[in-house]
Amino acid sequence: MTSALVPGSFDPPTKGHVDVIERTVTVFDSVVVAVIRNPSKTPTFPASERISMLEEIFSGEPKVTVASFDGLLVDFARQRGVDVIVKGLRAVTDFEYELQMAQMNFHLAGIETAFVAASPEFGYLSSSLVKEVARFGGSVEALVPPNVVLRLKERFADG
Ligand code: PNS
Repeated sequence: MTSALVPGSFDPPTKGHVDVIERTVTVFDSVVVAVIRNPSKTPTFPASERISMLEEIFSGEPKVTVASFDGLLVDFARQRGVDVIVKGLRAVTDFEYELQMAQMNFHLAGIETAFVAASPEFGYLSSSLVKEVARFGGSVEALVPPNVVLRLKERFADG
């Protein structure tokens, strides 16, 4: 049984995240999606809501578990006994920082990181841009799952 940990802020989850998680599911026996409770920037959605959104999206996928963590990712990885951290790479601009984190995580705990190349159609997607589009009334239907569209509409209803 091989397990993967897909960590992130997921503030909110986008179709790019979903693509990476779905493809991770095809390679591993089980996948823990790990939501960081307190990211460096104050999140738009509380952890409980980010977790609910992911649970709704993957409710039909028994291999996926959604959890949250604080502190070092490697401590959470050890606690859950996962084999590999999986990250999505959208473009070469993601690579430098992701490589640094992968090397640090290997240094700290000897855990490997594997990368999934984002599908080109989602290469430009980020949670920050999605929120900016939603905040100013743009269409986000093609960028996030339907349950996230609703949460964004609620969140930015007052402009
Ligand atoms: O979706 P994001 O914001 O790119 O996710 C970043 C995340 C949560 C994966 C990263 O910030 C992280 O692993 N934070 C936990 C703290 C930690 O372990 N830091 C050292 C890693 S090198």
